[in-house]
Amino acid sequence: MGRVKSLCFLAVVLAVLGQSFCSDEDPQCSRDVPVKSRIDCHPQPGASQEKCEARGCIWCSTNMPNAPWCFFPEDSPYGYSLNGNAEKTAKGWRLTLNKLQALSLFGNDISPVVIDVEFQTRDRLRFKIYDPNRQRFEVPLKVESPSVAADDTSYDIEVADDTSHFRIKRKSTGTVLWDASLSDLIFSNQYLQITTTVPSTSVYGFGEHEHLSFKHSMNFATYGMFSRDQSPTPFANLYGVHPFYMCVETDSNAHGVLLLNSNAQDVSLSPNPSLTFRTIGGVLDFYVFLGPTPENVVQQYTEAIGRPHMPAYWSLGFQLSRWGYGSIDVLKKTVDRMHYYDIPYDVQHSDIDYMERRLDFTYDKVNYAGLPEYMQQLKKEGMHYVLILDPFISKDEEPGTYRPYDLGEEMGVWVNNSDGVTPAVGKAWPDGHSVFPDYTNPRTVDWWTQMCLELKDVLDYDGIWIDMNEPSNFDRGQYPGCAVNDVNNPPYIPSISDRALAQKTLCPDSKTYLGEHYNTHSLFGWSQTAPTFHATQKATGKRAFVLSRSTFVGSGKHGGHWLGDNFSQWKDMHLSIIGILEFNLFGIPYIGADICGFNYNTTYELCLRWMQLGSFYPFSRNHNAEKNSEQDPAAFGAEFAKISRETLRIRYSLLPYLYTLFFESHVHGNTVARSLMHE
Ligand code: GLC
Repeated sequence: MGRVKSLCFLAVVLAVLGQSFCSDEDPQCSRDVPVKSRIDCHPQPGASQEKCEARGCIWCSTNMPNAPWCFFPEDSPYGYSLNGNAEKTAKGWRLTLNKLQALSLFGNDISPVVIDVEFQTRDRLRFKIYDPNRQRFEVPLKVESPSVAADDTSYDIEVADDTSHFRIKRKSTGTVLWDASLSDLIFSNQYLQITTTVPSTSVYGFGEHEHLSFKHSMNFATYGMFSRDQSPTPFANLYGVHPFYMCVETDSNAHGVLLLNSNAQDVSLSPNPSLTFRTIGGVLDFYVFLGPTPENVVQQYTEAIGRPHMPAYWSLGFQLSRWGYGSIDVLKKTVDRMHYYDIPYDVQHSDIDYMERRLDFTYDKVNYAGLPEYMQQLKKEGMHYVLILDPFISKDEEPGTYRPYDLGEEMGVWVNNSDGVTPAVGKAWPDGHSVFPDYTNPRTVDWWTQMCLELKDVLDYDGIWIDMNEPSNFDRGQYPGCAVNDVNNPPYIPSISDRALAQKTLCPDSKTYLGEHYNTHSLFGWSQTAPTFHATQKATGKRAFVLSRSTFVGSGKHGGHWLGDNFSQWKDMHLSIIGILEFNLFGIPYIGADICGFNYNTTYELCLRWMQLGSFYPFSRNHNAEKNSEQDPAAFGAEFAKISRETLRIRYSLLPYLYTLFFESHVHGNTVARSLMHE
C-alpha cells in the first residue's frame, strides 16, 4: 500500500509537470479499477490525496481528461448488501438492504433501505429506493399504475453475483439495461448516489442544459440539475429539470429511464459506459421504459408523466415578441410593417414593458395608452395575443392600491421564510421588494385564477407566458440572507453554477405548502403551469396557451417552453436544434428558441438564416431583449421580408401536418420534432 501511495504521489508530480504516469495502463494505480470505470469519491471541488484516502478511497492521477483522481475501491466501504431474500409483493418484489459498514461519506446514512420493484406495465418498470422507517420528500407527480404486477413483461430483474448486483434485462435480447452494484449505493439524509452501467454509449437527454451534441459524450461529463435563471451556457444548469435519458442499445433497441426526484442533483456519464446519479434529497425513484423504438420510449414516458397538451391551431402560426417596444406606437409600427410586407404572422406577445412599472396585472396607461382597444382590434383582424406574467408581486405599493398584493396577503398565498409564517421577501423586476406566490398551495391557485380572470376583463389575452419561475430572485436568498444550517448548507452541493443553492433564488429552508424549498425549488415553474393553464382555459373558454420558462417532468401536459435567453450568435442557432430535440424526448414538444437571438444585437445574415430555420420550429417566435436593435422580419427591408415570407409560407402550407403531429403527440405521446434515428 505504501509503495502504491508513493508511486501515485510521483504520478501527481509528473502530472503537474505535464507527464502521464498513472495512466489507464499503469498496473500500480489502476489495479482493480480501470480508469473508465472510476466512480468519483470526491465529487465536490478541492479533492486531495489526503482527503481522498481519509475517505477510504483510492487516489491516482490520470491523463484522461475529467476522469476522477479520487475514486471508490471496487468494494466500496459505504455500500449496502441484500438482507435476506427478495419478497414477492402484489406489484412485484421487495428487497431490503443493509449498510455494510458504519462509515459515512456525508453523514446520516440510512439503513436499512428498501427497493420496491413494481412491474407496472408490460414495458414500464419502477423501482424505488427509500427509507422504510421515515417518510422522505417525494415528487407529487401522479403516475397511474395498476394495483397488481403486469404478468407479461418485456423485462426481467435479477439480483446476481452473490446478491450484490441489481440488474434489469430486456427479455427478448438478454441485454442488460441496468446493472447497479449495491456496494456502490449511498443513501444518507442529504446525499444519495447510485451508479449503473448502460448497454451502449448512445445516451441522450438530461436537462435542462445547452448540450453541444444530441448524443452525449461519455467521457466523464457531469451535468447538474437545479432550476435556475441562467442564459444557455454549456454545462450550466438551466431553467428546468429533466432527469430523463434515452439509451439506444447496440442492436438499435432503445429504452428510457426517469429518476423522479426534484432535489438538486447531478449525473456523471463515464466511459465504462456508466451513469452515476447524485441527489441531495428525496428518494431514488426510477422508471424504466422498454421501448423498443425511440418513439415507443417517448410514448411510454409521456403515458406515465402526462401526455403533451393539444395546442390551439393559431399557436402554430408565426409569433412576434420583444422586450422593450417601449410604447404602443412602436408596437403598432412593428405590427404594421409585418402586415405591409405580408409576412405570415398570427400572434403578438407583450413583454414586461406593457406593465405599469413592471407590476403584474397592470398595464402602462401612459406608454401603452389604448392597449386594451388595440388588442381587441388585432383580435378582430384574426390575430391572437399573449401576455407575460412574472411570479413575484411587489409588496411596496401603497396599501389599498395594488389588489394582487392586498388580496394575496389577505389569502396567505406566499412562499414563507423558514418560520413558515412570514413571507419571503426578495428582489425582482418591480421597484422595491417582492413576495413570491406559492403555487403548491391551493389558496394560491384560487388567488392566481381570480387575478387572471380579472386581467382578462381589461386585456383580452389568448394566452399567458409565465417567466422567471425558477423562481428567480436577484439576490442570493431572500432578505436578509440565508441562515447557516444543514438545509441551506448541505454537505454536498451538486455540480450547479456557483455551487450555491440560494444563488439567484430563495433560501433552501424557505417553506412552501408542499414542503421545504430545498425539495420543491425545481418544482416552482411546474406547479405554476397547471393553474395557469386552467385559469387561461377558464378566462378564454378556449384551449389554453401557456409558455413556461421553468419546466419539470410532466410540464408538457399544460404548457410549452422556449429555450430561454439565448444569444444572437451562430452557435446558439445551431444548439437550438439539439434543445428542441431534447424537449421532445422530455414530453414538451411545443418548443422553440428565440429566433434571431435574445441577448446581443443580431446581424442581417444570422437573423435571416435563423428566420429560415425558425420557420420550422414547433413553436416559432422571434423575440429580442431590451435595448437591442430591432429584429422582426419586417425590420430589415424588402429582400429580408420576402425571404421570411417565403419560408413562413412553407411552414403555413405544412400547418395541417404539424397540427396532426401535435394531435399524435397529445393522444399517443409521439414526438413532433425528432431526430432521424426515430425513423
Ligand atoms: C427574462 C425572459 C425574457 C424576457 C425578460 C423580460 O429574461 O427570459 O424572455 O424578455 O425576462 O421579461
